[in-house]
Amino acid sequence: MIIGFIGFGKVSRTLLKLISSKDVKFITSMEGRSAETQNSIKNENIEVLDTFKQVAIKSDILISATSPKSAPDVALKYGRYAQGIYLDLNNISPDTTDEIGKTVKNLVDGAIIGKIDSDNPVMYISGKKADELLFLNEFITVKKISDNVGDVSILKMLRSTYTKSLSALLIESFEISKTYGLEDEFFDILALTEGDEFRQKSLSRISNTLNSSKRKSEELEEIIEFFNKNDLVMVKAALEKLSR
Ligand SMILES: NC(=O)c1ccc[n+]([C@@H]2O[C@H](COP(=O)([O-])OP(=O)(O)OC[C@H]3O[C@@H](n4cnc5c(N)ncnc54)[C@H](OP(=O)(O)O)[C@@H]3O)[C@@H](O)[C@H]2O)c1
Repeated sequence: MIIGFIGFGKVSRTLLKLISSKDVKFITSMEGRSAETQNSIKNENIEVLDTFKQVAIKSDILISATSPKSAPDVALKYGRYAQGIYLDLNNISPDTTDEIGKTVKNLVDGAIIGKIDSDNPVMYISGKKADELLFLNEFITVKKISDNVGDVSILKMLRSTYTKSLSALLIESFEISKTYGLEDEFFDILALTEGDEFRQKSLSRISNTLNSSKRKSEELEEIIEFFNKNDLVMVKAALEKLSR
């Protein structure tokens, strides 16, 4: 079994470490890549081919883990050479997944929920060929959602709908608590029902949201556009909050 990587960042490096089996060989290429990526490749036990086209042709499973922006281009360039499964793990919208599905034959829609370097990363997959990836459960928790490419992307977007709207509400409640000088107590009483880690998680969520409010707003706009037939009062309010 040959697993090929297009993109050799945090996700690919972690998968390479997790999928430790004598039956699996890993391949990638340095074609056009930065010095940082080339150095990470040199530090790992992975075969390096001259081009990504060769990687695509030779792989039984081709994994695209590059960036949301380059995912469609990578799929368009190399997807057609993939004889085996093309697993897209980029953080892309259902519309983009749909676009990729038009040019890539054996596409599996994939998402890593949470951070790849968390204690228990979970990989969700959907698509007709998803069953063929369930053997990876030996190395990382893999959950198949359905045979429909796009279902995982929709679930990922639903998760964002919830977490990003909640972050906006959290920011608002925290701001109010500060005007009364009750911010510590605010977290204390919520921790009673939400768990001991609530304060730490909330503060990290608030700073994360404020530090990347432009990107979060763009993601909320994408959500509003994609779910335009649904009732989206809360998401629209969250977008307004973040825009202020
Ligand atoms: N990190 C996570 O926990 C996590 C969780 C869920 C989803 N994701 C998604 O998974 C994807 C990869 O994430 P990451 O954290 O591994 O990213 P990363 O650490 O930034 O690495 C990205 C890798 O992709 C390469 N790359 C970029 N454009 C490329 C192209 N056109 N052709 C070939 N290689 C290209 C980069 O090479 P250069 O250095 O040459 O640019 C780099 O090696 C992203 O779409 C991200 O949204 C990540």
